[in-house]
Amino acid sequence: MNNNQKEPEAILKELTLDEKIGLIHGAQLFQTAGVERLGIPPLKMSDGPMGVRQEFFPAEWRPAGLSDDYVTYLPCNSALASTWNRECAYDIGSVLGEETRGRGKDVILGPGVNIKRSPLCGRNFEYFSEDPYLTGQLAAEYIKGVQAWDVAACVKHFAANNQETERLWVEVEVDEQSLREIYLPAFYDAVKKGGVHTVMGAYNKLYGEHCCQSSFLLEKVLREEWGFDGVIISDWGGVHSTDDAALSQLDIEMSVTSDFDDYFMARPLKEKIESGEISVEVVDQKVLRILKLMQKLHVFDGRRKSGSYNTEEHRQKALKAARESVVLLKNDSKLLPLKPDKLKRILMVGENAQRLHAAGGGSAEIKALYEISPLMGLKSHLGGNVQVDYAQGYCRSIDEGQDTQAGNWQETSLENGGQGLRADNRETAEKDKLLEEKRRKLRGEAVKLASENKYDAVIYVGGLDHEHDCEGNDRPDMKLPYGQDILIKELADARKDLIVIMVAGSPVEMEEWIGQVDTVVWSWYAGIEGGNALADVLFGNVNPSGKLPETFYKTHTDCSAHALGEFPGGKTVAYKEGSYVGYRYNDKYQVEPRFCFGYGLSYTEFKYSDASLKTAEKQICCTVENTGAYDGSEVVQVYVRKEGSKFFQELKGFAKVFIKAGERQQVTVQLEETWENAVYCIGSSSRDIRLMVNSL
Ligand code: BGC
Repeated sequence: MNNNQKEPEAILKELTLDEKIGLIHGAQLFQTAGVERLGIPPLKMSDGPMGVRQEFFPAEWRPAGLSDDYVTYLPCNSALASTWNRECAYDIGSVLGEETRGRGKDVILGPGVNIKRSPLCGRNFEYFSEDPYLTGQLAAEYIKGVQAWDVAACVKHFAANNQETERLWVEVEVDEQSLREIYLPAFYDAVKKGGVHTVMGAYNKLYGEHCCQSSFLLEKVLREEWGFDGVIISDWGGVHSTDDAALSQLDIEMSVTSDFDDYFMARPLKEKIESGEISVEVVDQKVLRILKLMQKLHVFDGRRKSGSYNTEEHRQKALKAARESVVLLKNDSKLLPLKPDKLKRILMVGENAQRLHAAGGGSAEIKALYEISPLMGLKSHLGGNVQVDYAQGYCRSIDEGQDTQAGNWQETSLENGGQGLRADNRETAEKDKLLEEKRRKLRGEAVKLASENKYDAVIYVGGLDHEHDCEGNDRPDMKLPYGQDILIKELADARKDLIVIMVAGSPVEMEEWIGQVDTVVWSWYAGIEGGNALADVLFGNVNPSGKLPETFYKTHTDCSAHALGEFPGGKTVAYKEGSYVGYRYNDKYQVEPRFCFGYGLSYTEFKYSDASLKTAEKQICCTVENTGAYDGSEVVQVYVRKEGSKFFQELKGFAKVFIKAGERQQVTVQLEETWENAVYCIGSSSRDIRLMVNSL
């Protein structure tokens, strides 16, 4: 039978209680039951956001081991945010949407829009920014891109899910005003501007309730205030009570165990309905929303797009975003861009030059079709006439080769109270000693090579990997692991012109060596074409235009969550810093970051002039001239200083423009509103304000 002509209300009437219950909870790890006799398919979900995750066995956290589930590996959301480019966000969303559909799924579990409260949160690489406006702007475009393919995005994790430590139980203590100023707006934008079809609740507690069954978050804020009529899905294992979940606005319960019939919204709920304790209408509302979602996705009418995966176009879009995400942090002696015709022999040092990152990080792991490492990107860019030598320099463990994460981490991470695997993996003292020796040896070899006069350039590639940028764990501090600080210092002693490249998903401390090094490039986990994008920037085929979407503190204690509030807290975590998060805190408390929010250099220079405010159109206009020798893109940022505001300034608009060398352009930055008695500051970063317009 098919339901082509039937409306969800009519379909609902035909369903038995068992069938209804089957639609509102997981019947496998990533899908619901569906009702075959009525042509209602299961709702199939997959993790994102860096691509569509590989297939798992239906009831086991074990990859199914297929050869048809390789996908385009997309830049992580921190990288995407670094582009400050709404078009890139749409394009990457659209690749993800097309691949989600291409893999036969209905819901992609992303994007994550949690605010980066502390640089130490293990999942920050999955999130966009410390700033709600930047997050919301990019996430809304991303969601539109995903949903153009008749699949649903699932914005997550709603809300105030800003750490991994004790993630299943921690109670977040944040005052409602700060919650609404900092932690909710990106979700609001996802709903109101992005039109997101589904929302995932968070694991943590807020105001005494688990977020996945919270009356405050789900009913008051999401349904009543924002008018969200889509589907609310629990995080996996985020439900804790049949009554609370059923009576909340949650629509689908998902979890990590295979006792699907025992889920809170499965048999236990059915029994309560049969005994009259809970009204069947509660379930009907949920089922109706799920059927309406299927209708929106054209599940019933035969007009659904088919999607596709691993296309050339997808790789090109991933490459473009990766190129735009690279941030040039330091280029004091203008060593970059490198000129290939002046190079005969290059030394690349550091394990991240050849490490592949796609398969790590937790639920964001991806089975990439391929991943171009920095070393491969450099070599393929230069070809055979330049000799590229490689020295490992440091290592992660004593075992040779790539050490991958142990399987079943997701199940385990929930079983041991939300903590991931790192605690179980602690090296013994004996192993530590051997590791230390191995690192000393690798360091010695690399520094010796770098000291020999045979190299035209020495490039260090270090940073983090998914051992640190990882779901289930927060970092203890921002220090570079594996003895990299000392290695970089020794390399910089050997080569004054050392080029340092950091590949990571969250900022690291650079204080020990930053004064000694003139050239620093930041690359995030940049997806399938990451190494090629990096080479394009190093050799000037692409002029860097990435801007930091978060503050790079000198050390983590400079960040407000640590200086004023608690992180990670214990059973509770107090957000005593209130709304003073990221640059809002730095401005107010005069904290000098290592690199500020919105910062990023170019190979060219941009001169700003002639600013004006068009109140009726809600626009800021100015002229930007590329006065340097390279074509390039600039992100024109507008920060508003409102009279009487507790914030010194807030990002309220931005526009990314490409300008050829020697040319000038009229730039219009669209705002969402304008304010009387405000100063509109136009600049190249939050601390490089070039022009001001006054509406006083
Ligand atoms: C994560 C979610 C993810 C889900 C399904 C949870 O542990 O918090 O982000 O989508 O698992 O894998």
